[in-house]
Amino acid sequence: MNRARSKGTTETHGATGTASPSPEPSAGSSSDEVLKARGLTRSFKTGTARLDILKGIDIDIRRGEIAAIHGASGAGKSTLLHILGTLDRPTSGQVFIGETNAFELPDDGLAEFRNRTVGFVFQAHHLLPEFTAIENVMMPLLVGRSPWDSARDRAEELLGEVGLESRLDHKPMELSGGEQQRVAVARALVGRPHIVLADEPSGNLDRENGKALLDLMWEMSHRYRQAFVVVTHDEEVGRRSDRIYRLEDGLLHAEAA
Ligand SMILES: Nc1ncnc2c1ncn2[C@@H]1O[C@H](COP(=O)(O)OP(=O)(O)O)[C@@H](O)[C@H]1O
Ligand SMILES: [Mg+2]
Repeated sequence: MNRARSKGTTETHGATGTASPSPEPSAGSSSDEVLKARGLTRSFKTGTARLDILKGIDIDIRRGEIAAIHGASGAGKSTLLHILGTLDRPTSGQVFIGETNAFELPDDGLAEFRNRTVGFVFQAHHLLPEFTAIENVMMPLLVGRSPWDSARDRAEELLGEVGLESRLDHKPMELSGGEQQRVAVARALVGRPHIVLADEPSGNLDRENGKALLDLMWEMSHRYRQAFVVVTHDEEVGRRSDRIYRLEDGLLHAEAA
């Protein structure tokens, strides 16, 4: 899927970024910056060969912003998202979530920090099969030691927002693919994270359900000024995003939105 880029619409995204499209006066202040990565590289050793997948990536995401990342299969999009979400360490470079330099935290501190600050929506829902929808959504709060009752209230509120108030006690197997992904979105948002990272979230859904899921993510982003980074093959998603990037040859190129 190496779509040719027309001349003049791309640039290598540098450290400074571009002006935030948000009309709010506080936009651009450092407190509005929810995710910042600098100089990310990631290499994999396979036998005697070394694969350099990411070769120096910078990205800045502000509150309320939706960034889309396109790229061919194997370009390193999932690798990048895992590092931005602190699930994987880069070979070199830094990830700041809010003011925190994430990879300077010790491993157990990092796991707690990640649970509190990052939400994930994967292509497969990754819900826990033996737990109900509401229990799955409560899980990040319970892991973060929230009291049961407030976790339950908050999870119920979120499931209502994603249109699943009548499915609270269904297990994942008892939900459609689109509903499972809605639960995953509710779970990603429940802890009011700094950033939600979505890796081809509509990849396993049919067109209609895929569109509904993306509409829901946009609606949530606007309602809560929630920042999202969305990896997707869907060019339309890009057109609706505040920023579009293409990952190619290990570098992130900004495209005109
Ligand atoms: N743990 C790993 N060890 C070796 N190679 C890996 C590993 N993870 C990913 N890769 C390689 O890195 C490249 C990028 O993978 P990935 O980030 O999954 O791409 P994308 O999500 O853009 O399709 C692929 O060629 C893949 O085989
Ligand atoms: Mg991938």
